[in-house]
Amino acid sequence: MQSTAFLLLALAACSASAAKFPKNWTTCRRSDKNKDECIRSAAEFAVRSLKDGNPQLGVFPLDPFHFNKLTLGGGSGPVNIKLDLKNLDLYGISTAKVQVLKTDWDNQYLEGNITFGSDFVLLGDYSVNGRVLVLPIVGEGKCNLTFQNFEAHLTAKGHEVTKGKKKYLVLDKFTVGIETSRFIMDLQNLFNGDKALSDNMNVFINENWKDILQELRPSISAAFGEGFRQVANAVFSRLPLDVIAPK
Ligand SMILES: *[C@@H]1O[C@H](CO)[C@@H](O)[C@H](O)[C@H]1NC(C)=O
Ligand SMILES: *[C@@H]1O[C@H](CO)[C@@H](O)[C@H](O)[C@H]1NC(C)=O
Ligand SMILES: *[C@@H]1O[C@H](CO)[C@@H](O)[C@H](O)[C@H]1NC(C)=O
Repeated sequence: MQSTAFLLLALAACSASAAKFPKNWTTCRRSDKNKDECIRSAAEFAVRSLKDGNPQLGVFPLDPFHFNKLTLGGGSGPVNIKLDLKNLDLYGISTAKVQVLKTDWDNQYLEGNITFGSDFVLLGDYSVNGRVLVLPIVGEGKCNLTFQNFEAHLTAKGHEVTKGKKKYLVLDKFTVGIETSRFIMDLQNLFNGDKALSDNMNVFINENWKDILQELRPSISAAFGEGFRQVANAVFSRLPLDVIAPK
């Protein structure tokens, strides 16, 4: 099964310049005995404080988090749909509760788990084409994709670069495993606005949400991973490692 994800973020290509470490953020010494708890709570605060973005750090608003374009699915299993999404806003990131965050700065490795205080909701324009089990599905309009009790399992690996005399972290790889207790899809105006067909199909896809999520999961994970990687790199490219995590 093959899945593809394309996205264009509303992030400026960052020709980063150094920024001041935000006054109310916390630094966590690498030698601190309670390093993991320090980082966990510092990261949670940082994510929440970036809700409306931070131009000095090159970060656009996190909540909602805007995607110009996202293509999900495109596989060839029993559920075979290609969902083209545009003008998307993702609501929920600023309610992040970082459960655990482990950092190995010397090896440029991060790993953590995050839950959210609210549903994770994607709103925007969709067009869909494909097949769900035996039924064809086609249409375009407004959509609402909601994840209840969304959980993200992150791992990130990068390398260090030196600019001037300072070292910075660049994340190359950012994987996001996603879990949800329920995935709810609302695709308005399916089948050219035939209301009865559209309503029935929405009932059907929500009865089969597990199969559909299975099909969409790799591309959702890739899209979120790339989005979060760009945000993290915007910040890491402006704050030297020795400022974020002094030795
Ligand atoms: C952190 O400081 C910034 C300004 O530096 C301010 O806008 C923001 O409200 C503060 N956040 C909290 C939660 O205190
Ligand atoms: C995150 O949660 C997953 C699944 O519960 C677990 O396997 C993993 O070890 C957790 N990661 C960390 C850093 O605790
Ligand atoms: C999106 O769908 C969820 C789940 O059905 C619902 O709770 C929420 O109100 C919807 N949001 C909008 C803006 O329609």
